[in-house]
Amino acid sequence: MELDLDFVRGQFPAFADPQTCDWAFFENAGGSYVPATVISRLQRFFIEHKVQPYGAFALSKQAGEEMDESYAAIAELINAAPEEITIGPSTTLNLYVLAQSLRHLLRPGDEIIVTNQDHEANVGCWRRLSEHGVIMREWRVGKADAELELSDLDELISDKTRLVCCTLCSNLVGTHNDMASIVEMAHKVGALVVADGVSYAPHVIPDMQTLGVDFYAYSTYKTFGTHQGVLWGSSEALKKTEGQGHFFNEEKSRYRLNPAGPQHAQIAALAGVTEYFDALHQHHFGDSGLNLHQRAHQVFELVGQHEAKLANMLLDYLKDRDGIRLLGQDHATPGSRASTIAFHARAMPSAHIAQQLAEQQIGVGAGDFYALRCVEALGMDPDDGVVRVSMVHYNTAEEVQKLIEGLDTILPGD
Ligand SMILES: Cc1ncc(COP(=O)(O)O)c(C=O)c1O
Repeated sequence: MELDLDFVRGQFPAFADPQTCDWAFFENAGGSYVPATVISRLQRFFIEHKVQPYGAFALSKQAGEEMDESYAAIAELINAAPEEITIGPSTTLNLYVLAQSLRHLLRPGDEIIVTNQDHEANVGCWRRLSEHGVIMREWRVGKADAELELSDLDELISDKTRLVCCTLCSNLVGTHNDMASIVEMAHKVGALVVADGVSYAPHVIPDMQTLGVDFYAYSTYKTFGTHQGVLWGSSEALKKTEGQGHFFNEEKSRYRLNPAGPQHAQIAALAGVTEYFDALHQHHFGDSGLNLHQRAHQVFELVGQHEAKLANMLLDYLKDRDGIRLLGQDHATPGSRASTIAFHARAMPSAHIAQQLAEQQIGVGAGDFYALRCVEALGMDPDDGVVRVSMVHYNTAEEVQKLIEGLDTILPGD
């Protein structure tokens, strides 16, 4: 069975809107389009009960119920308990708060391993802890292939390691890192694992019961929802955190690691994401006795196959071209490489390529995408960065073909 792209795209108003419908949109890793289910929940919240939630009057109760529905839906989606998730303003902020909440566990001389493949959101907040005498160890990408090797982690990790902070999938390289092995190595020395899932979550529905990490973070605005970040911690790991909210909220799971306080409407709309996944499930598989996590997982098996097909169209075009440096694996199989493809062309600046494509109504990104350390480690000019084409399941083979034809008019011939 294949993903029914007409049905998929029919759920997204952007594909019918005259402003956007003619664009081939490939900057999804910067933020994805949203389905009508999310938009209508957001609108409903703003129109019908834009009031302080959880109060005594009916409108306020409804506002609270809509938020509760989203907490439950997001938790069930990733197979977690609602008390294990925090929904905060962004992943950057959630990880910053998490770092502060774990600081009390660390003593001068303790070590944290960060990578230079990660987005800065899962690096800078940990590096700041060196102000307290914590020693930072950097797990570095290979200069040629941009990959993280487990043998290098093995050399860094020791009984002084308290935390290993690593992305599940870099927003530039696209490889799914071997988190099971990372977790095994970290847990052997008693270290906690903080996994950035921002570039992973648009492509895979993870299972918090089997992923093995202690903390997992992803951003809902890159996964078809509103601009929020989800932070999950296992109940054991959460016990190790110090609350960062108001003292009287210490026992409230939604507030302990979210000093900003929940953003009512944005959270209430998030149940629209799982409603959308359910619509996909119903369309492709009909009724089933599966739970939400299992239904979404089944849908994402189709998503994975479709995205790999799209990725391979572009990878096949780019991989043997002269003057192109492609980051990450040059072939995609579901589960090993995301359809996030970054490259650099020797002949011209990345921004120029993005601009030229924009003139053909093709949206791609250019720059370092806050993975500055990765770009520098690869010996690339940080002011130039890379061109990034990030595809998700609603992209089509026709769009990728349009991109390839567009690139053909820009890149010098072989
Ligand atoms: C891999 C990765 N991690 C973290 C982040 C930060 O997410 P947020 O924008 O929600 O702070 C991003 C954002 O682009 C990202 O791509």
